[in-house]
Amino acid sequence: MKYRYLGRSGLLVSRLCLGTMTFGNAQWGCDQQTSSAIVDAFVGAGGNFIDTADMYSGGESEVMLGAALKAHKRDDLVLATKCWFPTNGAPTSRGLSRKHIIEACEKSLKRMGTDYVDLYQFHGPDPHTPMEESLRAADDLISAGKVRYLGCSNFYGFQIAQANGLAALKGYERLVSAQHLYNLVRRDIEREILPACDAEGLGMICWSPLAAGMLTGKYRNKDKPDADTRIGIQATITLPRYWFEDSLKMIDLLAEVAAELGKTPSQVALSWLFGDRRITAAIIGARKVEQVEENLLAGDYDLPDDIRQRLTDGMPLKLGYPYEWMATNLPNTFGKAEFEPDHTQRLPK
Ligand SMILES: NC(=O)c1ccc[n+]([C@@H]2O[C@H](COP(=O)([O-])OP(=O)(O)OC[C@H]3O[C@@H](n4cnc5c(N)ncnc54)[C@H](OP(=O)(O)O)[C@@H]3O)[C@@H](O)[C@H]2O)c1
Repeated sequence: MKYRYLGRSGLLVSRLCLGTMTFGNAQWGCDQQTSSAIVDAFVGAGGNFIDTADMYSGGESEVMLGAALKAHKRDDLVLATKCWFPTNGAPTSRGLSRKHIIEACEKSLKRMGTDYVDLYQFHGPDPHTPMEESLRAADDLISAGKVRYLGCSNFYGFQIAQANGLAALKGYERLVSAQHLYNLVRRDIEREILPACDAEGLGMICWSPLAAGMLTGKYRNKDKPDADTRIGIQATITLPRYWFEDSLKMIDLLAEVAAELGKTPSQVALSWLFGDRRITAAIIGARKVEQVEENLLAGDYDLPDDIRQRLTDGMPLKLGYPYEWMATNLPNTFGKAEFEPDHTQRLPK
């Protein structure tokens, strides 16, 4: 297993993070026995980074994770959870208000049976709460010893810059990570989110790195998903997100490349992510131990550069404006220096 620093922090995490959204899910998830076996396999292979959220399986994911962790040394692990989604019917039980953040964190600690969370994440942006209020509440949790580091998920690029600008101004703890959808067929975050993270010192933790199972290749040459899989059960969400002409072509290319390398499509799709140093970790979700065992190989398998490029070129991302404008005008405007200064912003090309 290889380890990476979580953004501009001193926290070293395994580049595979274990996702626990399946734990306790009655339709596309697993029971306590399998959840514990998944945790055992992951930790046994050197994984130290585990992600959950208060809303997964209505809180059951945190409870099952807590039970599974009893067999392991809690302090050696980096435990991440999140708040934002409603957890009960109360009007205050949602979003990123001070009241909800503090209540949600305390309830997560109880469910998991631990005194602290290593990474506490805002699960999404709250358009109605001032960012300052949320950051101050999270900062208080850190001062109280309940949280070690702070991250966001599903934020827009401007909010990442806004949050860390405010944190610097007010002396609050900064965001050190972002958790966003990123995989070979959904590369949207390359436009604004990854550059914002890079500039602001956030490590990217990718969710659905296998496109909910599409990139395992198991749906190849099928005209619809098997009814008993994640993609089949959650079809209203997953089909528009992942099942389109270009993604089906990408899966063919992925299968071809994987066969050449003697690896599986999942292993190659996960490894593709780590060729970009802005990526700290990929969160692998599973409902069976065998799936985790297969995916764990990507913890220390690196793709040859030319193969990685072949996959990247397989479904090019159209960056659009203002990238086109910059491509036309940048070289003629800033071509005079012998070399770029160290403080050059790394804009996507
Ligand atoms: N922050 C957010 O908004 C957000 C959103 C979503 C997820 N997440 C986090 O990201 C984690 C991972 O997300 P995800 O579950 O969508 O990830 P994923 O890795 O893209 O998909 C996982 C699913 O793919 C299938 N699968 C995985 N490995 C396989 C293999 N080797 N062979 C065959 N099938 C395989 C399994 O589903 P089937 O067996 O049912 O096909 C599994 O549940 C979650 O647990 C959660 O921690 C965060």
